[in-house]
Amino acid sequence: MKISAVVLAAGKGVRMCSELPKVAHKAAGKPMIVHIIDIVKKAGIEDINVIVGHGREIVQGVLTGEKVKFVVQEKQLGTGHALLQAKANIDPGSAVIVLAGDTPLLRSSTIQQLINLHMQNNSPATILSAELNNPVGYGRIIRKADQSFFRIVEEKDATEEERQVREVNAGIYCFQAGQVFELLQKINTDNAQGEYYLTDVLELINNTKQAVNIIKMEDAQEMYGVNDRIQLAYVESILRKRKSLELMREGVTIIDPSSTFIDTDVIIKKDSIILPFTIIEGTTVIGSNCQIGPYSRISNSNIGNNVIIDSSRVNEAKIGNRCTIGPYAYLRPESELHDNVKVGDFAEIKKSVIGENSKIPHLSYVGDAIVGRGVNIGAGTITCNYDGRKKHQTIIEDQAFIGSNTNLVAPVRVGENATIGAGSTIAHDVPPDNLAVERAKQRNFHNRTKR
Ligand code: UD1
Ligand code: CA
Repeated sequence: MKISAVVLAAGKGVRMCSELPKVAHKAAGKPMIVHIIDIVKKAGIEDINVIVGHGREIVQGVLTGEKVKFVVQEKQLGTGHALLQAKANIDPGSAVIVLAGDTPLLRSSTIQQLINLHMQNNSPATILSAELNNPVGYGRIIRKADQSFFRIVEEKDATEEERQVREVNAGIYCFQAGQVFELLQKINTDNAQGEYYLTDVLELINNTKQAVNIIKMEDAQEMYGVNDRIQLAYVESILRKRKSLELMREGVTIIDPSSTFIDTDVIIKKDSIILPFTIIEGTTVIGSNCQIGPYSRISNSNIGNNVIIDSSRVNEAKIGNRCTIGPYAYLRPESELHDNVKVGDFAEIKKSVIGENSKIPHLSYVGDAIVGRGVNIGAGTITCNYDGRKKHQTIIEDQAFIGSNTNLVAPVRVGENATIGAGSTIAHDVPPDNLAVERAKQRNFHNRTKR
């Protein structure tokens, strides 16, 4: 059977107190709506419809390239009205999974379980519920005397007795598409909030004498929805904890998970060790046997095997195998280090390629450069890449030796195996195998010191 998904994401999220629509806020480095789309995809559903409304350009923006269909809900008249907007997109013969864009703790396996039970029982509707210690704010599941489904009542419409019920509606459903879209046209706004409640459709299904199935979630945390920034921080902490556990199970050592922040999509291979106070973000991939941290922040970077990164910042860079970085190095976007490169303390690399076995051990700035293999760049070397208007390139060929405190005024080329004397300002190309020295002759004056 064909399965489609509808993600409800048209609401504003007033309690976020934000210019940004709620579902565009990030948890563990990824907008909540992207978490949901990834979860739905991982459950094997390809046809995904996202109901957008409030801040829809922004929501559509964060989903660029995600292969989802957008359906606009002009006015946010309620969850029932929101789902109805997707009617034209969905084959009446299919099953439709409905969920909200603000529950990033949901697991793909739970969606699969929902689909499986829905199929097995051939139900018109299957819903997820959870037993909460504090059910405040959620719709309550009201069961009949025989424990079968009766209806869902929203907190604001509930009687005192109904509010005592601790089983709540998770807001995640699987429907027979044709039937739900037909019945959605029959619900009204006769309730405390004056909205079209999606939940009212369940009562109508029940009235057709077909049983609505309820699955109680084992892990109630999965349905946790974010309404404000306090809940956002909570969700963030759970996502990070899950990520650390997953990595540790796969063979990564995390010395102190509570001071280590690793985004959901990060990949780290076996036998790498992550030291405390380290942040690893975005789409970073780290190979095996690395030692990362302490005090390092790595974003959207690709790091080989056996790499050591100590107390450093690495952003959108590529690092080969057996490199050592830091302490206190700064690798900026479009930097590419080949194997066995050393970048030491207080060295900054920007938009440069550094060849195998080369060393930039201390206090240097290397920007817009191509550095060959086996090059040694002495302490205090600066590529003067900017003339105040434009950036220029520096090329340093294989085996060159750059003495300490050298200025390389770009554009400039230092030939293979050339040597630059310490303290030189090199504004002209140096041919291969040459020694270049550019500095004033030293003069010594005796008897001029103060005594
Ligand atoms: C809903 C359920 C409630 C359940 C809870 C679980 C209804 C009536 N109630 O309540 O039983 O316990 O979820 O979290 O469905 N949205 C739209 N368009 C609208 C209204 C909402 O797209 O017109 C979206 C929101 O952006 C949000 C989702 O639907 O992502 C849920 O809406 P929300 O208003 O948060 O519903 P709840 O009051 O939480
Ligand atoms: Ca909600």
